[in-house]
Amino acid sequence: MFLCFRKKAYLCSIETPYNNYNMANKIVLTGGCGFIGSHTCVELQNAGYDVVIFDNLSNSEASVVDGIERITGKRPAFYQIDCTNKGDVYQAFQKEGPIAGVIHFAASKAVGESVQKPLLYYRNNLSSLMNMMEAAEDFHLKGFVFSSSCTVYGEPDQSPVDENAPIKPATSPYGNTKQIAEEIIKDYLHTGVGFNAIILRYFNPIGAHPTAEIGELPRGVPQNLLPYVCQTAMGIRKELNVFGNDYNTPDGSCIRDYIDVTDLAKAHVCALDRMVQGKSEEKIEYYNLGTGNGVSVLELVNTFMEATGVNVPYVIKGRREGDIEKIWGNPGRANTVLGWKAQVPLKETLANAWRWQTRLREKGVM
Ligand code: WQD
Repeated sequence: MFLCFRKKAYLCSIETPYNNYNMANKIVLTGGCGFIGSHTCVELQNAGYDVVIFDNLSNSEASVVDGIERITGKRPAFYQIDCTNKGDVYQAFQKEGPIAGVIHFAASKAVGESVQKPLLYYRNNLSSLMNMMEAAEDFHLKGFVFSSSCTVYGEPDQSPVDENAPIKPATSPYGNTKQIAEEIIKDYLHTGVGFNAIILRYFNPIGAHPTAEIGELPRGVPQNLLPYVCQTAMGIRKELNVFGNDYNTPDGSCIRDYIDVTDLAKAHVCALDRMVQGKSEEKIEYYNLGTGNGVSVLELVNTFMEATGVNVPYVIKGRREGDIEKIWGNPGRANTVLGWKAQVPLKETLANAWRWQTRLREKGVM
């Protein structure tokens, strides 16, 4: 059992509260109004950090800041800035004073869109990363957490996938930006900068905060599975298209490692704790963040219906281009070294997502 002596027990390694350290406890979250960023803001505030959000609101809403405040009672500082604008980034850092670390979420992340608009993805995802890393050096931060993805592994030779699995050629410009970003971080840290980096490779983040104050806010037709399931259950979509049931899996549909977004957020707290307390042993550390369990599309749909009692009509369609057959993570390194383990059962995650979808309907959002 991993304990930490914080105000709230986290599954982190044993530690004394950061505030025994004579250092800043302020963290910058780029893309902090986004799905994972907003949930991470809540968990950082719960852990006693001060949070500053940079977000250009290109794929999120400023009202997310209100939702965060309703959950924690603390309003994060918010700058509506684009991290590709280095001047704006530096101005915000100067205004905020000492910063302990940054978590860089801000990026375009739609696989399909990246095929249509590759230059937007390379420009946005890579120049924002480079600006944030230079700011981390120039403003003497201790830690840099990068939001990466299991996409870097491509179609793995086997699952579960650990951090030493080969990095396969990316299957989309989006995935390529994640691979190139990891290389940029490695090369820049090799120059002897003053901060350490932790690269978190997420499997499939899903769910919503149990309070239904924040959750996923897909714009237009959802690309990802669970938001589409929720909108079908709500009657917004006529039926769910299941992309393929002829894969070499038990029920023929693709398998993924679906990780609860609050579990994922807590892993970021553990990663930051590790770096700002000077515990990271390597200049760069890599962690797979998943549950270690593979769940098929049809299993997820049926579990959703069991968890919510709501029907989800679906139709089997052909395979979606670019989909891989199966992938799930080996979170062993995150469990032992980072002191983090996924806790939320899938049924609870799905019920949280449905509660959030219901709240959006009550608010007339969708
Ligand atoms: C999951 C499964 C689909 C929608 C992507 C990114 C990854 C990460 C998560 C950012 C697949 C099937 C989906 C639908 C379906 N994003 N599906 N009907 O593609 O595994 O991963 O999002 O980090 O980087 O690549 O997630 O939710 O789109 O698909 O049958 O309407 O659900 O075919 O098998 P994916 P997904």
